[in-house]
Amino acid sequence: MNVIVWTPAFSVGYEPIDKQHQVIVDLYNGLCADLSGSAMELAEQKLGDYIDGHFRFEDVLMERTGYAKRMAHLADHRRLIDMYKVIQARDQNKSTVMKIVVYKWFVEHVVSDEMDRDLGRFLSEQLLAGKPFAAPPSVEPPPAGQSAATTPPDAGTPSR
Ligand SMILES: [Fe+2]
Ligand SMILES: [Fe+2]
Repeated sequence: MNVIVWTPAFSVGYEPIDKQHQVIVDLYNGLCADLSGSAMELAEQKLGDYIDGHFRFEDVLMERTGYAKRMAHLADHRRLIDMYKVIQARDQNKSTVMKIVVYKWFVEHVVSDEMDRDLGRFLSEQLLAGKPFAAPPSVEPPPAGQSAATTPPDAGTPSR
């Protein structure tokens, strides 16, 4: 599977979402590297965890702004999450199938006109119309060598 090279043409018009999509591209490209065994498992886990957090971020934005197409958008997110879980449970050709599914999702959900681009357009129109909304905290990229899901919330701070 080919790597994805981020270009400004992928922008949905709302920067916080674009930044997270760039992290997804980076993590996806990590799966295209020559990884094996537990390193590949970890890369797959990180990508899945990050996509999960990104979907929650978009959902909070949709909910706070009363985005009319929220349910259809959420259903499309759910399709990918369900598929990802099924693939993670496979024994064979897991990473190949995962790369195909994420690549396809990127083209159909992020770059196509109906989903993230429509949401990005709506959010920027809200801002231009003087209807500000509070964005949730951004989803940070997982630290190197660790799964986002296993990162303690207070990582790096002393325990007492
Ligand atoms: Fe989305
Ligand atoms: Fe997205």
